[in-house]
Amino acid sequence: MPPTRIGVTAAAGAYSVLVGERTIDTLARELDDARLGPRRIIVSSPRVWDFHGPRFRKAGAERTPVLVEDGERHKNLTTVSRVHDALVKAKADRSTVVIAVGGGVIGDLVGFAAATYLRGIRVVHVPTTLLAQVDSAIGGKTGVNHALGKNLIGSFHAPSLVVADPTVLDTLPRREFRAGLYEVIKYGVITEPALLDRVRSTLPAIFARDPVAVAPLVAASCRIKAHVVSADERESGLRRILNFGHTVGHALEAATNYKRFRHGEAVGYGMLAALSIGVARGVTPASLYDEVLDLITHLGPLPPVSDISSKEALAAIGRDKKVVAGTLHFVAATKRGETTTLTDVSAKEIRTVLKQLGLRA
Ligand code: NAD
Ligand code: GLY
Repeated sequence: MPPTRIGVTAAAGAYSVLVGERTIDTLARELDDARLGPRRIIVSSPRVWDFHGPRFRKAGAERTPVLVEDGERHKNLTTVSRVHDALVKAKADRSTVVIAVGGGVIGDLVGFAAATYLRGIRVVHVPTTLLAQVDSAIGGKTGVNHALGKNLIGSFHAPSLVVADPTVLDTLPRREFRAGLYEVIKYGVITEPALLDRVRSTLPAIFARDPVAVAPLVAASCRIKAHVVSADERESGLRRILNFGHTVGHALEAATNYKRFRHGEAVGYGMLAALSIGVARGVTPASLYDEVLDLITHLGPLPPVSDISSKEALAAIGRDKKVVAGTLHFVAATKRGETTTLTDVSAKEIRTVLKQLGLRA
């Protein structure tokens, strides 16, 4: 199947997202065509590089790659500093392009390093997890965690190109792969119900990482994300729909110190919570809750929540970035593929739904 090319508009300039089997093998040509160079420096993690490094030999990058640890606990300013050190040592200048090869952690932290080095140099994302391919590599959100909270330090810095090749997902642990699928389901609920049907009907092939089944999922998700961030790069309106399932999702992650859940897993619970609140209010059809519950159940087990305190989860919601000027913007589904934003969801409603999910008082 030929690769899909999706255009994204951003304040700093338009860029392409290229999705397809073996697109990594054409990276050098893509970079040349987009005049991204002449100097190119790859930043990746030892784990990702061990698996996929040889495929980047022909990417026209100089020197050996800069390797920094990934994983949430390394997503901090110390690791960004290591990337800066390497760029300084390499005498990177404003013509240098940084190529981030890895999951969402590498993408976010390398994007932030590029955003802050010399007041901003260009970055290209080659996402290697399903979550990064369908979500984090597109839209220009970059950043790292602060000791007091996740993603508190960051900036918007749009990439100059994104290359998503589903064949790299072969080596991804099943749990990480599943974590990305929850975000695909999210796109199905908020804008494109056909994605729900597609996940349900092709699940065995998807889990087998058959590119014929996975590439269209990635392309459809990228198309949705590209459309949303092109319309609202800075999240002042439409982009908020991407937060569907994230209010309770982020709270579960925060209440467990970001150690228990993969981000997508927490969003899995968060979507059920959002649908349940919608059903209780008469905003969401109960059939949609049942459909999503069924899909999520089919994907496999989610980590347990019974020992998580509702109080702590509720407190985390109060500190969330989705609270704007004291008002929580809560995304609810009105039907398959459509949402509304509720600004009056009460602590009582959230407490009730946390109890339903199985959290302790
Ligand atoms: P991750 O980057 O931590 O990667 C998960 C694990 O998979 C790591 O151990 C990594 O080494 C490994 N890995 C990566 N690619 C692999 C491959 N092809 N084969 C084998 N192993 C591989 O996790 P993630 O889920 O990709 O990203 C999560 C991060 O993304 C979070 O920090 C979250 O805040 C961020 N995020 C950002 C945005 C955004 O818009 N910028 C959106 C969603 C999430
Ligand atoms: N992942 C949510 C966003 O990019 O806005």
